[in-house]
Amino acid sequence: MSSEPSRRKRKKNKTGSTVSTSCWEISPCVRSIKPLQYIPIALRAAQIREELKQGVKKPFREVIDVAWGDPQRAGLKPLTFVRQVLAACLYPQLLDSTGLPTDVKQRAGGLLSECQGGSMGSYTDLPGIPQVAQQISEYIARRDGGVPPKAENIFISSGSQWALQNILSLLVHGHGEVRSGVLTPIPCHVTSIASLLSLGGVSVPYYLSEEHGWELRMEELNRALENAKQVCTPVALYVINPGNPPGHVQRKKSIQDVIRFASEKRLFLLADEVYQDCVYTDDVEFVSYKKVLAEMGPPFSDTVELASFHSASKGFLGECGLRGGYVELVNMDPAVLKHACTVFSKDNAPTAGQVALSVLANPPRLGDPSYPLFETETRQMHAVIKATVRRVHEVLNSLPGVSCQPVEGGAFAFPRVELPPKALQKAKELGMEPDTFYCVRLLEESGAFITPGCEYGQKEGTYHIRFCIRAPGDVIEDFLGRLVTFHTQFMTEFS
Ligand SMILES: Cc1ncc(COP(=O)(O)O)c(C=O)c1O
Repeated sequence: MSSEPSRRKRKKNKTGSTVSTSCWEISPCVRSIKPLQYIPIALRAAQIREELKQGVKKPFREVIDVAWGDPQRAGLKPLTFVRQVLAACLYPQLLDSTGLPTDVKQRAGGLLSECQGGSMGSYTDLPGIPQVAQQISEYIARRDGGVPPKAENIFISSGSQWALQNILSLLVHGHGEVRSGVLTPIPCHVTSIASLLSLGGVSVPYYLSEEHGWELRMEELNRALENAKQVCTPVALYVINPGNPPGHVQRKKSIQDVIRFASEKRLFLLADEVYQDCVYTDDVEFVSYKKVLAEMGPPFSDTVELASFHSASKGFLGECGLRGGYVELVNMDPAVLKHACTVFSKDNAPTAGQVALSVLANPPRLGDPSYPLFETETRQMHAVIKATVRRVHEVLNSLPGVSCQPVEGGAFAFPRVELPPKALQKAKELGMEPDTFYCVRLLEESGAFITPGCEYGQKEGTYHIRFCIRAPGDVIEDFLGRLVTFHTQFMTEFS
């Protein structure tokens, strides 16, 4: 009997070799997603690590991975308080030990008392562990001033990306010109665009202005919207603040302009605010869309529909692997809210991610036994990143052909690299995007793994690279050293 699944068919192509086809077709929406550029680079990085283990000689001893916005992957240590609470939740016998501070035991005991069966191994109810939803609600009220949001407007999920996907699934539908469009920044966090496309939505690009420090410009939003009307029905506007990949932090005035625009054009606002705790410039502060919307008063404050996303993956926690995120919905029609409940109830958020969210929303306070250590760890981490940002800016802007706008927040530097015509030609011969070619060569020659700007979208004829700045100081120094040496050789070779 054949081991092939019965619905698979085999046929010969023109050259006579056998190719496999199926009686079902891959969704055209999924097919429209551009393959990620970083995947072959990541595979090569893994191979190089293996070669180094086997003793293959290279001009470097290890691979530096600063490709992801994942601080712990880049070498930063997790916060002790998070890990202690998690440990006690997962292994409640620790609650009887003398080795853990009393506030850790209280936190873990409280969370466990609200887990079904008193165990982290059980599914939690929607919208998650009640205490965590309550802590998030109080956190939002402290951040923005004003009354805590109702718990029914907060949905905890397995990471904020999943929450975005769920909200998009409510907004996006249709075919042809009536297909729903979402205005998306370029450059953009690539998975957000993939989520949109996989649902059949249209990504309507609006370009952030690199010359203006990657600001969002209203004339560009207007242009994008007018162009989009010929191909789709724009229903929403997606913003990332602070940005990814460029680390611009949106000012209050700009947020007001965007809210007015959304109100006038009847667009649902999707505010991706996962980097809200990552601001490194002294005279710049993060202000939430929710806060600005409330301050603007009626008619905006009670009509503009907003979804604001946050995550335990980013900020001072950096717990990407635990998968904890949430969305707060503002001004959503109760009839639509019911459907939001349905889509979120498909999947319970992991309990470990919810524990991380509990710490994000309600960290140790002055007077708590864990506060001194927590304060020291977070202060030191912030100081390291602030110093890193200054250093990265100085080094990048000293390199010939490289310019980097200020990194005010977020997790990445996104410098522009002017590649010489001979390098462009070589990339073309190899069938690669020019900045992918640059990143591949950087990896091969220096062992540094970063990602190319083409992954995130960029103006035609411009090239960028992206790397994570939320990493230990020595890792960044090592990386910058390798980048400088490589860049100098690369420019000489292709000039
Ligand atoms: C802008 C932005 N939004 C969302 C996410 C995803 O976060 P999560 O891990 O909570 O799904 C990321 C991750 O890098 C991001 O950069």
